[in-house]
Amino acid sequence: MSSINRNLDQFPHILVLGMGGTIAGLAPNPNENPLQYEAGQVEVRALLAHVQSAIPSGTALVSRQVANINSRDLSNGELSELGCVVREALVNPMVAGIVITHGTDTIEETGIFLQLTCGNNAQNLGKRVILTGAMFPANAPKADGPSNLLDAIRWASTPLDNCPGGIYAVMDGRACMAMDLAKRHASALNAPIMGSPSSSAGLINPSWLSGVKAVEAAWTEDLPIPKENEWSWVEILTSHAGARSEMVSHWLNSEVSGLILAGSGMGGLHQEWQKPLMEAAYRGIALVRTTRTGAGVTLPNMPDKEMPGCLASGTLSAPRARIALQLALNAEKQAKLAGKSLTWQDFFARIAVLPEIR
Ligand code: SIN
Repeated sequence: MSSINRNLDQFPHILVLGMGGTIAGLAPNPNENPLQYEAGQVEVRALLAHVQSAIPSGTALVSRQVANINSRDLSNGELSELGCVVREALVNPMVAGIVITHGTDTIEETGIFLQLTCGNNAQNLGKRVILTGAMFPANAPKADGPSNLLDAIRWASTPLDNCPGGIYAVMDGRACMAMDLAKRHASALNAPIMGSPSSSAGLINPSWLSGVKAVEAAWTEDLPIPKENEWSWVEILTSHAGARSEMVSHWLNSEVSGLILAGSGMGGLHQEWQKPLMEAAYRGIALVRTTRTGAGVTLPNMPDKEMPGCLASGTLSAPRARIALQLALNAEKQAKLAGKSLTWQDFFARIAVLPEIR
């Protein structure tokens, strides 16, 4: 799905991409029950029409509907399409900045995906890509989408000496790097949490800005965007009390290319998994260890000596580590085709050292 409003795209403009989500959702009974709704119902063009009168004068907007879905259904193909649209728009001299309206459920995955595939390009070209969403559907009396969308448009078009080009997110009057945004509460209205945010009104917190600069210094080359059929199959397995070896051995004869192991505490894995994981590594299944706690860093050889063939995820949560591993596996494939002997471990190691801004 992809449609574009073309009348203004020959002039400098902000490109607003619609992916769906609650920000584009509608509730049948918005006054009685605003939280019972269907996501991805309203086109991005209509969301913009609704806030038109508050858009700063002189800001031209072009909208494009990339998808209109509940983000829990986000597919590999939709991520590939979004990545390609963003990559092309970044090099278009008429595009001054990019806003993406997205569901909050998997905004975490899209945030890391865009950072790893377009973050360096955005930085070098001095353009900001801003993800935003909402907790209330578009027709709810307390809809937060319009103010989030306006903040995102302002942030995308703020002069650059305030904040460098890159991949950011804006929600609830605050801004952060998109790779630091995650939904960590099932129902709270402030569920999307941010790493050390700054004010979306453009007031930059200096310690946040130095974190942004540290990420930019560490991320010096974007990874290729997989085509729809190039994404590797990677699953997330959670270690828990009473874990069984079959949870791992089940995958040994499958087509799975990688496993994200969400361990307890510092990323500790149940001893029942030890043997089948050795076998998985021997069969060439890529293994990455992270923590199921939802916060903190997973370091090599902590709490135990690393299993051969397994990498620690650094600050990446399980959903982010999964996208990172898929991109690293694809980068290895593309490197091989280009006659280079780089491995997924080489690419993943570059991602795992990215600092999280807390
Ligand atoms: C979605 O992720 O599409 C639905 C939930 C939300 O946007 O908050």
